Amino acid sequence: MAFMPSLLMALVLVSYGPGGSLGCDLSQNHVLVGRKTLNLLDQMRRLSPRFCLQDRKDFAFPQEMVEGGQLQEAQAISVLHEMLQQSFSIFNTTRSSAAWDTTLLEQFRIGLLQQLADLDDCLGQVMGEEDSALGRMGPTLAMTRYFQGIHVYLQEKGYSDCAWEIVRLEIMRSLSSSTSLQERLRMMDGDLNSH
Ligand SMILES: *[C@@H]1O[C@H](CO)[C@@H](O)[C@H](O)[C@H]1NC(C)=O
Repeated sequence: MAFMPSLLMALVLVSYGPGGSLGCDLSQNHVLVGRKTLNLLDQMRRLSPRFCLQDRKDFAFPQEMVEGGQLQEAQAISVLHEMLQQSFSIFNTTRSSAAWDTTLLEQFRIGLLQQLADLDDCLGQVMGEEDSALGRMGPTLAMTRYFQGIHVYLQEKGYSDCAWEIVRLEIMRSLSSSTSLQERLRMMDGDLNSH
């Protein structure tokens, strides 16, 4: 069982071919910052989710896309970038400042910006590859639509405390799900650099 992921990884590497220009270098620090960011979001909790059961909603996070291992590197980077950017924009409003502890919120946003800066470097490098723009579009749009649903939900719920709590939990879950994708990107780079 344990060797399956690396077998798949080997196939992925083969399909990129020799000399594939995957120059994106996500450092271990990127992963650590990601964990810290998640941790901050966890600490931001202000209500027991028990009080908000009636506000629960299925936002249809594209989990299979994020965790399924089918995305190519450029797509994966673009999807991650969109996730972080959209998460940032949800928490970069005066409404969110009113809803959350401002110190934690500020640290959370700084963490997201750090991760985004890392990915910007990567994205810059894969952008140059022909036909990558088209390939990125579909998966990235799926992520954009997911976040649109969250924006609409907050609006419909009048940015209530419970709505924010549900959204906090939802984004925690999706960022946490994206950790596997970030690890996978790191592994791709590590393997390639050693070949
Ligand atoms: C965050 O919000 C501020 C104020 O609206 C805006 O000026 C800034 O560009 C936003 N930051 C990002 C990265 O979107």
